[in-house]
Amino acid sequence: MGFDAILVFDFGGQYCHLIGRRIRENNVYSEIVSHDTTLNEIENYKQKFNIKGLILSGGPQSVYDRGAPKLDPAILGISLPVLGLCYGHQLLAHLAGGVVKPSCKKEFGVTIATIDRAVGVLEGLANQEKVWMSHGDTVFSLPPDFEILAHTEHTPIAAFRHKQKPIYGLQWHPEVIHTVNGMKMLQNFLFSVCKCKPNWTMEDFIERATAEVRQQIGNKKAIIALSGGIDSSAATAITAKAIGKNLTAVFVDHGFMREGEPEFVQKTFQKFPINFTAVNARARFMERLRGVIDPESKRKIIGEEFIRVFEEVARETGAEFLVQGTIYPDRIESGFRKFSDKIKTHHNVAGLPTKMEFKGVVEPLRDLYKDEVRQVAKKLGLPPQIVLRQPFPGPGLAVRIIGEVTKEKVDIERKADKIVTDEIEKSGLKDNLWQYFAVLTDSKSTGVKGDARAYGYTVAIRAVESREAMTASFAKIPHEVLEKISTRITNEIPQVTRVVYDVTHKPPATIEWE
Ligand code: XMP
Repeated sequence: MGFDAILVFDFGGQYCHLIGRRIRENNVYSEIVSHDTTLNEIENYKQKFNIKGLILSGGPQSVYDRGAPKLDPAILGISLPVLGLCYGHQLLAHLAGGVVKPSCKKEFGVTIATIDRAVGVLEGLANQEKVWMSHGDTVFSLPPDFEILAHTEHTPIAAFRHKQKPIYGLQWHPEVIHTVNGMKMLQNFLFSVCKCKPNWTMEDFIERATAEVRQQIGNKKAIIALSGGIDSSAATAITAKAIGKNLTAVFVDHGFMREGEPEFVQKTFQKFPINFTAVNARARFMERLRGVIDPESKRKIIGEEFIRVFEEVARETGAEFLVQGTIYPDRIESGFRKFSDKIKTHHNVAGLPTKMEFKGVVEPLRDLYKDEVRQVAKKLGLPPQIVLRQPFPGPGLAVRIIGEVTKEKVDIERKADKIVTDEIEKSGLKDNLWQYFAVLTDSKSTGVKGDARAYGYTVAIRAVESREAMTASFAKIPHEVLEKISTRITNEIPQVTRVVYDVTHKPPATIEWE
């Protein structure tokens, strides 16, 4: 594709993704790559994008630490502009033969930088700028072919550039909002130094992605597992635009969907020119889960059965291509930024493994962040209920029922979940919440209903705030809203005698209970 792009080398800094996001906010494509990316790999990226510059991210280590992440010095010889930030700044200085040492006074937080030369990345900035610092080491000297562009009280070389080559270093973090003119600095790098064109817009993306899908699949048939979630829905919509009726979208109803979900998905996709197949597989999923209590076993069984159902339909369609809703963070997380410890097995149709032989796998959203996927979905005419929907686990309500899954429990859980959803949405709290739902616990407790003793289920309400689900805080829902939910659940669901509110953050808890 002909997008101008910046590669962001990941040295392990907590703001690495933020750098990538900020660049994209300026309509320039960015890709996060591992710090040990080789020259050859950069050449491969050039086949896909017009690489216009490199950014070296921050990182937790010192350039002198054993095993500290390094950059192949040959990369600095390929005449692409380079901007080093924090660790990246120190690494550039170190590779050039400068002196980097622990500073006597560490700088954390907002610091005033004096701009000595407002040129290049610092063009147009004032003499004094508020910048966000977070470093232990400092660059103390540089070879004569470099010049100092800024300093602070404790950092003699807070910004530098090479006198002939487009190589820059900033000790601070321009990507963080506390660096007041951080965006201006990044824009200077993108547009003045790298001469990027701001052509990464979602309209452009849709055009080019559609053409690419059309070219990849040609006049052959393709199939997609459509869950009704944002990713598979957007991938379906884009593929529909590219190949129309040659796409079959398969909606596997495992019986653990929220109320009205199967009907809603079917109705939404009716207006798209595709083949839509809804498979009612409720009985076979229930059968396979009989007697199963262990959460991981449940997840595994549901994942496997899902694939089996999907493969059966796929075979009938004669599809040669499999379309998946994989998005950019999925790729990053399964790539070099691996999570070391597996907490739970996520069943995700975007990562559908399949034993079937497909001629090719098509992933039209593979380069997009979640909010970019939302923009695409909106532009392709998907309704707000899909564009703005909260995440929903692949195994559905089955992992929100603690212990064995039975038909009775699914019915209770579904009703409770609908009440939580309705009341939160009515209360206007929805926009600030990442997720809100009910969990049917396996604790029974004594209650009193209509003057008689009742012994029934305990439902837990879970509502969390989060940015990307890696961490989450329980939401401080007003008591009146909780009261309304609790009253409705105990009134409308006879088998429930008690409602509790989950006040645990993630970590230590996870968002879902299983
Ligand atoms: P946890 O419970 O691990 O969940 O804190 C993090 C986020 O992932 C969602 N989730 C899933 N999503 N397939 C999915 O596509 C799954 O199997 C799955 N399990 C959990 C969860 O709802 C939360 O947003």
